[in-house]
Amino acid sequence: MTKISLPSLMPICLLFPAALVLSLASTPAAAAGLNGDAAYTEGPQVCGQCHAEALDAWLSHGHSRKLAIGGPAIGALDGRFGLFGNARDGGFLLPDHDKDVYNWDNVLFIIGASKHWKTRFVGSDGHILTKNGKNQYNWSDGSWSNYHKDETKQFSCGTCHTTGYQIDGKVFNEKGFPGVSKAGLPGIKGDWAQFNITCEACHGPGAAHAKKPTKANIKIDKKAAQCGSCHVRGKDPNVTIAAGGFIRHHEQYPEHLNSPHAKLSCGSCHDPHDTRASGIKVREGKKEVCDTCHAKQRKAYTGSTMEKASVSCQDCHMGRATKSAIKNGPYEGDVWTHLFRINKAADYTMFSDDGKKAKNALSLEFACMRCHADADKAAYAGIASTHTIGK
Ligand code: HEC
Ligand code: HEC
Ligand code: HEC
Ligand code: HEC
Ligand code: HEC
Ligand code: HEC
Ligand code: HEC
Ligand code: HEC
Repeated sequence: MTKISLPSLMPICLLFPAALVLSLASTPAAAAGLNGDAAYTEGPQVCGQCHAEALDAWLSHGHSRKLAIGGPAIGALDGRFGLFGNARDGGFLLPDHDKDVYNWDNVLFIIGASKHWKTRFVGSDGHILTKNGKNQYNWSDGSWSNYHKDETKQFSCGTCHTTGYQIDGKVFNEKGFPGVSKAGLPGIKGDWAQFNITCEACHGPGAAHAKKPTKANIKIDKKAAQCGSCHVRGKDPNVTIAAGGFIRHHEQYPEHLNSPHAKLSCGSCHDPHDTRASGIKVREGKKEVCDTCHAKQRKAYTGSTMEKASVSCQDCHMGRATKSAIKNGPYEGDVWTHLFRINKAADYTMFSDDGKKAKNALSLEFACMRCHADADKAAYAGIASTHTIGK
C-alpha cells in the first residue's frame, strides 16, 4: 500500500492550475490531441442538448456508472468528471476498517457505481485502495472480498472504464482539459477525455459534430467487435478464459464468438439506447428476445412444465457460468453466459483439463443443475426433448 501523500489530498482544482493547462496545450503533443475533428466534447451532457432521449437512456445504463467521483475533494469539478454528485451521497459503503485510508476524504473515484456486481475504490493518490483487504463490496449479498490485498495496485483500467483513453498519451477535450494523470497522481496510469463509457466511446470523438451536426462527422458502428473492444479479456478474443470453475467476467465477446450467434451483432438482442434491463430489445412477461428468431422453439416450449413455472429460454441457454463478484452455488456465478449451445452428453465437461479455458457449450451442470441441484446428470442427458417436458 503506497502511503497517501499530503499534496494529493488537496482539492483537485488546485492541481489543475490554468498555467499548467496552458503550458501543456502549447506542446506539440497537445496540439495533436486537440486536432480538429478528433476532439472530444466535455461530455454526454453536450450531446444531450440535441439528443435528449439518447441521454436519458444512457443515464439508466451501467455504461454511465463505471467510474464515479468519490469524496468531496473532487466535487467542485463534477461537470468535468461526470454527471453525478459525490458517491458519498449515493448510498455507497466504505470498508469498515483502517478508517485513515477508507474515508470519503481519501476516496477519489469509485469503480463500478451501477450497484450491479461489485464496487472498488481509488484513493486520492490514484492507486486502488487495498490495505488489509476486504476492499471490494459485493452488491448481491453485501459481503466484502479481498481484491489484491496489500498490493500496490495502479488504476490501469481506463481502457474499458473511461472514454478516449490513452495509456501514454495526453488526451484533451475541446476545452484543453488534460487527462487526470497530469494532476501528478502516481497511481493513475494513462489519460482519458471523459469518465465512463459515454456516447463518444461508441460514436467516436464528437466535438466537430456537436458544433456542426452532419451524419458524416459522427460514426455508428454496429459490429460486435466494437462492443467487444471492452467486453473481452486476454489477447485472443476467440479464447474464453476461465478460472475456479467459472468463466471470468467481461468476456461476452469471446463467448459470443464461440456461440451459434457469432455472425450476429450484439445489437441483434441489445439496443444500447433501450431502457429495459441491459437494453434487451424484447422483454414483456414471458415474451423473450429469442422468440423473434426462434418461433419454432417458443411454440414447442409453450405449455411445458417449466414454461408454466416461468423458467425462461435464457435460464437454460445462458446459465450463469460466468462470475464477476461472487458465486451463488457450485454451478452458478453471477453473470449471464452468451454461449447458448447446451451439450447434453453425460460425460461432457465445460472446461479444458487445466481449467483455464471454456469450451463452446454449456454443460448440464450449468444449464440445469444450478436449479436441480440433486438431478442425476445421466438421466437428464437421456431426456429426449427438454422443451416439451410435461406436455
Ligand atoms: C446541436 C445539436 C447536436 C448536438 C450537440 C449533437 N448532435 Fe448528433 N445529430 C444532430 C443532428 C441534427 C443529426 C442528424 C444529422 C443529419 O441527418 O444530417 C445528428 C445525428 C447524429 C447521429 C446519427 C448519425 C447517422 O448516421 O444517422 C449520431 C450517432 C449522433 N448524432 C451522435 C451525437 C453525439 C455522440 C453527440 C455528442 C458528441 C451529438 N450527436 C451531438 C444534432 C446534434
Ligand atoms: C469502452 C468500453 C465499452 C464499450 C465500447 C461497450 N461497453 Fe458495455 N460495458 C462496459 C463496462 C465497463 C460495463 C460495466 C458497467 C457497470 O458498471 O455496470 C458495461 C456494461 C454493459 C452491459 C450490462 C448492463 C448494465 O446496465 O451495466 C451491457 C448489456 C453492455 N455493456 C452491452 C454493450 C453493448 C451491446 C456494447 C456495444 C454496442 C457495449 N456494451 C460497448 C464497457 C463497454
Ligand atoms: C455502448 C455504445 C453506445 C453508447 C454508449 C451510445 N450509443 Fe448511440 N448508438 C449506438 C449504436 C450501436 C447505434 C445504432 C443502433 C441501431 O440502429 O441498431 C446507436 C445509434 C444512435 C443514434 C441514431 C439514432 C438512433 O437512436 O438509432 C443516435 C442519435 C445516437 N446513437 C446518439 C447517442 C448519444 C447522444 C449517446 C450518449 C448519450 C449515445 N448514442 C450513446 C451505440 C451507442
Ligand atoms: C478489457 C476491458 C476491461 C478492463 C481492462 C477492466 N474492466 Fe472492469 N469491467 C469490464 C466490463 C465489460 C465490465 C462489465 C461486464 C462484466 O463484468 O462481465 C466490467 C466490470 C467491472 C466491475 C463491476 C462493475 C459493476 O457495476 O458491478 C468492476 C468493479 C471492475 N470492472 C473493475 C475493474 C478494475 C479495478 C480494473 C483494472 C484493474 C478493470 N475493471 C479493468 C471491462 C474491463
Ligand atoms: C436475431 C435473431 C436471433 C435471436 C434474437 C436469437 N437467436 Fe438463437 N440463433 C439465431 C441464428 C441465426 C442461429 C444459427 C442457426 C444455425 O446455425 O442453423 C441461432 C442458433 C441458436 C442456437 C443453436 C441452435 C443449434 O442448432 O445448435 C441456440 C441454442 C439459440 N440460438 C438460442 C437462442 C436463445 C436462447 C435466444 C434468446 C436469448 C436466441 N437464440 C436469440 C438467431 C437468433
Ligand atoms: C429447461 C431448459 C431449456 C429451456 C427453458 C429452453 N431450452 Fe432450448 N434447449 C435446451 C436443451 C437441453 C437443448 C438441446 C437439445 C438437444 O440436444 O436435444 C435445447 C435446444 C435448443 C435449440 C437448438 C435446436 C433445437 O430445437 O434442438 C434452440 C434453437 C433452442 N433450444 C432455443 C430455445 C428457445 C428459443 C427457448 C425459449 C422459448 C428455449 N430454447 C428454452 C434446453 C432448454
Ligand atoms: C442472442 C441474444 C444476445 C446476443 C447476440 C448478445 N446478448 Fe448480451 N445478453 C442477452 C440477454 C438475454 C441478457 C440477459 C439480460 C438480463 O437478464 O438482464 C444479456 C446480458 C448481457 C450482459 C449483462 C450480463 C448480466 O449478467 O447482467 C452484458 C454485459 C452483455 N449481455 C453484453 C453483450 C455483448 C457485448 C454482446 C456481443 C458481443 C452480446 N451481449 C450479445 C442476449 C444477447
Ligand atoms: C431456473 C431454474 C431451472 C432450470 C435452469 C432448469 N429447471 Fe427444470 N424445473 C424448474 C422448475 C421451477 C420446475 C417446475 C417445478 C418442479 O417440478 O420442480 C422444473 C421442472 C423440471 C422437470 C419436471 C419433472 C420434475 O423434476 O419435477 C424436469 C424433468 C426438468 N425440470 C428438467 C430440467 C432440465 C433437463 C434442465 C436443463 C436442460 C432444467 N430442468 C433446467 C427449474 C429449472
